[in-house]
Amino acid sequence: MTSSNTSVKLDRIIPLGSATLDAFKIETVDSPTKDSLVSGQVLVRTLYLSIDPYSRMRLSESQGGAVPSFVPGKPIDSFGVGIVEASTSTKFSEGDLVTGSSFLWETRFILSENNITKVPSNADITPANYLGVLGMPSFTAYVGFASICNHKAGETILVSAASGAVGQMVVQLAKARGLRVIGAAGSNDKVDFVKSLGADVVFNYKTCGSLQKAIKEAAPEGVDIYFDNVGGEFLDAALDNMRMNGRIVACGNISQYNVAPETAYHTKNTDIVNSKKLTLYDFVILDYYDRPVYNEFIDEVSAGFKRGDIQYKLDEVVGLENAPQALLDLFEGKNFGKRVVKVSDLNGTL
Ligand SMILES: NC(=O)c1ccc[n+]([C@@H]2O[C@H](COP(=O)([O-])OP(=O)(O)OC[C@H]3O[C@@H](n4cnc5c(N)ncnc54)[C@H](OP(=O)(O)O)[C@@H]3O)[C@@H](O)[C@H]2O)c1
Repeated sequence: MTSSNTSVKLDRIIPLGSATLDAFKIETVDSPTKDSLVSGQVLVRTLYLSIDPYSRMRLSESQGGAVPSFVPGKPIDSFGVGIVEASTSTKFSEGDLVTGSSFLWETRFILSENNITKVPSNADITPANYLGVLGMPSFTAYVGFASICNHKAGETILVSAASGAVGQMVVQLAKARGLRVIGAAGSNDKVDFVKSLGADVVFNYKTCGSLQKAIKEAAPEGVDIYFDNVGGEFLDAALDNMRMNGRIVACGNISQYNVAPETAYHTKNTDIVNSKKLTLYDFVILDYYDRPVYNEFIDEVSAGFKRGDIQYKLDEVVGLENAPQALLDLFEGKNFGKRVVKVSDLNGTL
């Protein structure tokens, strides 16, 4: 007998611009069973799904980026964490906690053993934190800041979307390595949170008036490193305030992901890259999982988190059927911390 399974699918490819819920359709489908498995597969029950800005781009026709569009009629996928309910793989057993980048937005689904990795089940790191403090955006912060931007103690770093999944980790890593940290966030609560992480100056970019002036006031001597999570107008304001030989970590462009081409903001101050001899670092995190930096990240950040030196704010939405709205919320700043969707409990409660 098969039980029912919720499935969140792409209904249709939507144009670039403001996404709406009608891009998705939610269906009740039959649950896969142990008998549906062929050799080397696992049946996974989803515990948590990761809600990330890049998924918005996957709702539209590919613009040639690193990840393909979702397919109409097929389930949405993202990073996730779940529990193995049945396995024909020699690598995984029933009860294993697993994570991967291609979890389907379904209660239960089948994956190849090559698409998941086992994670330890322990009290220090909750399942949701395999998407949070040890998850993809946190690793992105680690690679972008700790590994590629040549930071030095005493330098000034500016971080946009500083309370978010990536930003909150950049702030803490930079403080721990002796930089002066300036954060920007979109509400007063978020500003207070980023201050509580140790940032030296934090401003609300929505109420500060001129972005150029707000950055100038926070960094009168200029910015050595700008960790760019948002692109657009903020990037132009940061470029205006960079010091000679400064570095920009081009992490993401969220201000432009949900905007129609005719209203997109095109960066104007690119001449400053040359006149101030700036270096721009671009990277896609998926390229770093098989490099030594991944284990360095897991070791350093899990130890810091267990000691209590590193904090990590999760923002949990309950219910798979709420995942589409949870994604759209990111583009209005309605998440506060790393957004995840809880699908089921460890004990199987849905
Ligand atoms: N290079 C990579 O491989 C890689 C990997 C992961 C993430 N990223 C990028 O990193 C960036 C941050 O991702 P995240 O996961 O940490 O997201 P997040 O910060 O947890 O969530 C998105 C936040 O962005 C801010 N935001 C939304 N619309 C904005 C706008 N128009 N202008 C300025 N800020 C806006 C909002 O915060 P406020 O309330 O503060 O505005 C919102 O809460 C994104 O651009 C993402 O694509 C890149």
